[in-house]
Amino acid sequence: MVKDFLSLADYTGDEILAFLDFADRLKAEVRAGTPHPLLQGKTLALIFEKPSLRTRLTFQIGMFQLGGHTVLIDDILGRRESVPDVARNLERWVDGIMARTYRHAHVVELARCARIPVINALTDLLHPCQILADVQTLREHKGRDLGSLKVAFVGDGNNVFHSWANFAARVPLNLTLVCPPGYEGDAEITERVRREAKGDFVITHDVEAGLRDADAVYTDVWASMGQEEEAETRERAFAPYQVNAALMALAKPGALFMHCLPAHRGLEVTDDVIDGPQSVVFDEAENRLHAQKAVLATLLGGPRN
Ligand code: CP
Ligand code: NVA
Repeated sequence: MVKDFLSLADYTGDEILAFLDFADRLKAEVRAGTPHPLLQGKTLALIFEKPSLRTRLTFQIGMFQLGGHTVLIDDILGRRESVPDVARNLERWVDGIMARTYRHAHVVELARCARIPVINALTDLLHPCQILADVQTLREHKGRDLGSLKVAFVGDGNNVFHSWANFAARVPLNLTLVCPPGYEGDAEITERVRREAKGDFVITHDVEAGLRDADAVYTDVWASMGQEEEAETRERAFAPYQVNAALMALAKPGALFMHCLPAHRGLEVTDDVIDGPQSVVFDEAENRLHAQKAVLATLLGGPRN
């Protein structure tokens, strides 16, 4: 297994499923009140270049529940000192690094330069932790036969979609991106996933066709962190792709509504959908805790380097 958790593309399907099974076990133990101090005395450094609620809290709480603790760095990497120098300092003190950065190259460089595990907690390109929590949620509500399920990702071909695509390249699952022209995601990733996908992998601009037979309808903000100045242009382009009751009605009856959060209510999703009976958004948020603990305990669980 690789040292770092930078991209789901770095893992085999079996390794990804093992993270999910481990997350289910940790969740059951939390519910039962069974302690699991698997990282007693270990420290995780948290680097945040962008804001966060869920990621920051779940990594902090997760390390606490595993018997370890965290130290926080609110800084832009490379501004005060080079990324390799940050890596070479941190590895002397802590057991792992979690980083949320603008540039994906920065988490890759941290991982290359540090002998300790580096976990990608969102970059402009990828958000792999989110997809582990999402799939944990999907399995809880729709069963473990993921190969028979279709997820329709409605909106921007962004970091969250890229990680869904990387998942679909490793584990059988049918994935459709339903997006306006020009927002089909990173061509290098989508072309690779087209070759490697274990189920159907479709990119369409046609809402009706894209939503047909969907077991889960997923959306995310139209303008991601760092794209604020494009917000107005994007609102115009994405308006026909708003997840509202009419759009949900195009999916299978009982299809889940999923969103990584934070949501921009009234833009990519309406209140009635996100607050409605098909919505599992807070299950996804809860599962960030359990899924990331599985990653932490797996990657940081060995003896100190
Ligand atoms: N979904 C997610 O990553 O949330 P935060 O940006 O609040 O961490
Ligand atoms: N695509 C969003 C995800 C937030 C969790 C962003 O990058 O801002």
